Amino acid sequence: MTTPSLLEITWTDPVTSRKGYVVIDTLVRGLASGGLRLREGCNLEEVRGLAQGMTRKEAIVYDPADRYLPLGGGKGGIDIDPADPEATNVLRRFLAAVLPVVREQWNTGEDFGLRQETIDQVAAELGLDSTVEAVFSTIPDAAESRAAIAEAFATIIGGISLGDLVGGYGVAQACIVSAERLGQRPEEMTAVVQGFGSIGGAAARYLAEAGVKVVAIADRDGLIRNDEGLDVEALLGARDGSGAIDRSVLRSSDTTGDRDDWLTVPCDLLVPAAMSYVIDVDDVPSIVAKIVVEGANMPTLPAAEAALRERGIPVVPDFLANVMTNAWWWWVVFQDIAPTAEASFEKIRAVMNRLIDTVSADAQASGGTLREAALALAARNTAVLAERAGVTR
Ligand SMILES: NC(=O)c1ccc[n+]([C@@H]2O[C@H](COP(=O)([O-])OP(=O)(O)OC[C@H]3O[C@@H](n4cnc5c(N)ncnc54)[C@H](O)[C@@H]3O)[C@@H](O)[C@H]2O)c1
Repeated sequence: MTTPSLLEITWTDPVTSRKGYVVIDTLVRGLASGGLRLREGCNLEEVRGLAQGMTRKEAIVYDPADRYLPLGGGKGGIDIDPADPEATNVLRRFLAAVLPVVREQWNTGEDFGLRQETIDQVAAELGLDSTVEAVFSTIPDAAESRAAIAEAFATIIGGISLGDLVGGYGVAQACIVSAERLGQRPEEMTAVVQGFGSIGGAAARYLAEAGVKVVAIADRDGLIRNDEGLDVEALLGARDGSGAIDRSVLRSSDTTGDRDDWLTVPCDLLVPAAMSYVIDVDDVPSIVAKIVVEGANMPTLPAAEAALRERGIPVVPDFLANVMTNAWWWWVVFQDIAPTAEASFEKIRAVMNRLIDTVSADAQASGGTLREAALALAARNTAVLAERAGVTR
């Protein structure tokens, strides 16, 4: 069970009876940040856990030298398959119903099952200039910030918007820095990635670019495997808008299988980057990996993490590994960085290196896990933030 939140909204769609949820875990200066997911089976408990994760993500990147002063944590979820033909209509009715919260407190964006361009379009239909209007309302002259975020999203690298790359780039950096701390070089490593959307696709791209062999990728339609390494760019070019890969581009040496087999493919880096709760304790004996890096939110169940630890497999926790989409938005909006790929990647590399170094050193000193050390760092930062800006919880 998770602890109670500041605000929990359960909405029922008057047309389909689908449920939608908004949870505000904490507010800083009256504001919270966190994406919106579309997933069949999504429930309040899940969204509450994700909102708590957002409080930690905001806090963990805190750097007093930045103009960006972290916000509180929030999250939204709708219980619907993103491929359901009614999904966008349900999303529109949900956002219309919670519009006052979006306008004043909850700064949101894409998450699992929802693309930024879709939520941007629905927000525009509802009269919002963006999905982060609550933050813009606190910036005296927000015109430059609006222009900066628009320019950042308009930056396309290899066919993909920078906004859809930064999160996965951060996950790839978390993999590389963590592995290097274990004495492994990227060119000697292999990786398996579950999910090939915004996070998984970009993580796979930047792992491959660093020389890591990506030997298996799972999407909603199955597993694609090649022990010599997949052609990640070809697969990225064959993705549809939901992150599903067109199998017609596979090479003759690529093999396909059941999507749930991703956990049994031997690798150095195991990167869950799709749904929550996908690594259970029963899965642990079949995992052959040196590190698990959580690209997804809440993919590893606590008992599984404990069992992995017993086997000497560290887990880089979600609120550290996949923090960069969220942080990047605010670095651009508060103009800590120019809205360019170079500035974005440089900042992400520097911050991920600093965070992994701090957390690894703290975990080593205390004998605890990376998650425990990362939680302690987030708590220390929250205490400083509470002094500086006040945290409502
Ligand atoms: N998008 C972001 O900026 C962001 C930021 C931080 C964390 N996250 C987290 O990362 C995870 C992925 O989010 P995303 O935005 O990349 O999602 P997405 O919707 O862009 O992509 C999801 C991917 O998962 C695949 N998938 C769906 N069902 C599957 C299944 N049963 N087995 C294997 N693959 C399956 C889809 O085919 C797709 O490739 C989520 O947990 C999300 O909360 C996302």
